[in-house]
Amino acid sequence: MKALVVYGTRWGGTAGVAERIGDTLRREDYTVDVVDAKDRPPSPDAYDLVIVGSGISAGRWTKEATRYLKKNSVSLRERRTALFVSCGAGGDEELREQGRQDFLVRVAEKNGLSPVIFGLFGGLYDFTKSHGLFGNIMLNVAKKELQEKGVDTSKPYDFRDWTQIEAWTREIAEG
Ligand SMILES: Cc1cc2nc3c(=O)[nH]c(=O)nc-3n(C[C@H](O)[C@H](O)[C@H](O)COP(=O)(O)O)c2cc1C
Repeated sequence: MKALVVYGTRWGGTAGVAERIGDTLRREDYTVDVVDAKDRPPSPDAYDLVIVGSGISAGRWTKEATRYLKKNSVSLRERRTALFVSCGAGGDEELREQGRQDFLVRVAEKNGLSPVIFGLFGGLYDFTKSHGLFGNIMLNVAKKELQEKGVDTSKPYDFRDWTQIEAWTREIAEG
């Protein structure tokens, strides 16, 4: 079985998620290509399973991952497809349901993808990196909230749940 994992990332967090999904599929005997949406990802046509995901900023997927879904929606409809996001909402019990609706259900609907498997994962905040003018303002809001919860924000805050990501991937592989 051949699988393709295409991911959109702004600051690198989602690349790690995509690589872990790829490694997990390989352990389930899949042949896997993991490709950054910026690097001319191949069409889904040659694959049995296609997993497309993105990090989220200001409520949006990256433009390259969005473009990939739009451009390949016909082909994706014809094969097993899963969508995932790695984001703040994925690590916050109160925001999860809204995040699922906004970043997964709505994105699938917009591209006519159904049925499709959804994965909502936590992400990574790297406070040591600059995120641009507006990015830094948004990140500072998250930083303050985390500090109030007692998180040490002098280093990156990684809330990607590898156990969850691997279990989700195995379920797809076995399903
Ligand atoms: C500037 C900025 C804006 C963000 N906006 C959102 C958001 O609107 N919703 C959300 O759930 N997470 C948001 N996040 C969290 C990111 O989705 C999370 O950090 C993710 O790991 C980023 O993935 P990437 O490094 O692959 O781009 C934001 C993070 C930053 C730095």
